[in-house]
Amino acid sequence: MSKSTSIIIFGASGDLNGRKLIPALFNLYRKGRMPKEFSILGFSGTPFDHEAFRAMLRSKLDEFAGYEYTDEEWEKFSSRIFYHTDKAIDPESFDRLKGELTRLENGPANRLFYLATPPQFFPTIVEGIGRIGLTKENEGWRRVVVEKPFGTNLESAKQLNLDLHRNLHEHQIYRIDHYLGKETVQNILYFRFANTIFEPIWNRNYIDHVQITVAEEVGVEHRGGYYDEVGILRDMFQNHLLQLLTLVAIEPPSSFKDNALRDERVKVLSAIRLMHDNKAWENSVLGQYRGYRDEYRVAANSRTATYAALRLFIDNWRWQGVPFYLRSGKHLQNKSSEILIQFKQPPLAMFPVPEWYKMVPNIMALCIQPNEGIHLRFEAKVPDTVYNTRSVNMEFNYQDSFGQGSLPEAYERLLLDSINGDASLFIRGDQTEVSWAIIDPFITAWESSDAPPLAVYEPGSMGPIEADRFIEHDSRRWLQGCSGQYRD
Ligand code: BG6
Repeated sequence: MSKSTSIIIFGASGDLNGRKLIPALFNLYRKGRMPKEFSILGFSGTPFDHEAFRAMLRSKLDEFAGYEYTDEEWEKFSSRIFYHTDKAIDPESFDRLKGELTRLENGPANRLFYLATPPQFFPTIVEGIGRIGLTKENEGWRRVVVEKPFGTNLESAKQLNLDLHRNLHEHQIYRIDHYLGKETVQNILYFRFANTIFEPIWNRNYIDHVQITVAEEVGVEHRGGYYDEVGILRDMFQNHLLQLLTLVAIEPPSSFKDNALRDERVKVLSAIRLMHDNKAWENSVLGQYRGYRDEYRVAANSRTATYAALRLFIDNWRWQGVPFYLRSGKHLQNKSSEILIQFKQPPLAMFPVPEWYKMVPNIMALCIQPNEGIHLRFEAKVPDTVYNTRSVNMEFNYQDSFGQGSLPEAYERLLLDSINGDASLFIRGDQTEVSWAIIDPFITAWESSDAPPLAVYEPGSMGPIEADRFIEHDSRRWLQGCSGQYRD
């Protein structure tokens, strides 16, 4: 008989559970992808009984799920949701949790623990469940999903890895970066390695530079307290932006198995040149949107950056000398995550063009969100002219090719993989450390007392003017290529 699966969510009354986890688990259930026998046990300090907890989740679902469902589907699914409240996270509370779990499971079961709490509780929870044997894999698998942020710098990430490893083997730890759950992000590897035509030119011989942009329209909203402590480099670069860079730059793995992929991710990150002190300042621009200091729970004299642009280099044979420009910010003109690969200029303008005429380079745009798709810009001769060319696009749009609503929420795939034991899309301990090793020197340089002042930018703009000058210094421009046309 196959074992039942228990999903224990710590921090179950919080935002993440209501907005993301339950909608994703429910959709997996509706698609018939959940294990036959499963139960979900929410754990947190806010008092609810089972019914009130289910009602709270349903109201969130209506707000955030983005799909239609029937009352009957919800009734069936929610009858497997339970809630356990405890005033504090202390040794006895884990004993009580164990009692509740044993009652629910009624026999040997697999267990997925999901840490959706503030990060300071991660070590205590893992220690607590470990101490009473809940992480021992003698009667089914035991896995722990760890949300971000994974540490606040290299040192704390190393410490957190040590703390987790006291009670867990590495194969039991699933560190999440929700960007890896996005279809368009996974497709980068398919685009590169399920085709033969792109890989031969995917290197320093043909690529001039790479731009990775994750622009957000929203400001810090109700998260000012959290955000003011972390800032853009910790919140977005150490994880999501480096993750995108990794997939663009990675070597073909020896197989599609989790550790083969993870080895390659670590390898390419380890080849990124580290930039300390002056080098860090020279290769970055940090900014803050006007009005940030008036946001709720943000310090009136805050020096926290809400925008950053970095120039990184990967010191290996494939990428030597090719700059990777990364930028991300809050309160920008529009929400857009995209990767632009600019190819080199043709070596010679052999057409009868005037001297001043500049050939336009080809650009590949990998559009992560919204307008998900891929475009390739190339030049075509304008009919009935002597030499004029115009940029045209070859396009792939998810919506046209796979239909509207074809893209699932990132958390669906990640939750399913953690239940099925596939860690390919999760971060191994060594990857978190090598990513921090890249970002830490930038943070240290910018937090030092000699750091240049932050650039200020207007909410709704495309970031500070200093970031434009930064890339123009290299005779290049920031581009947006996923909104239908290329523009700067
Ligand atoms: C989170 C950050 O990890 O990613 C947020 O903490 C950010 O600040 C979010 O808004 C962006 O995710 P997405 O999927 O909307 O691009």
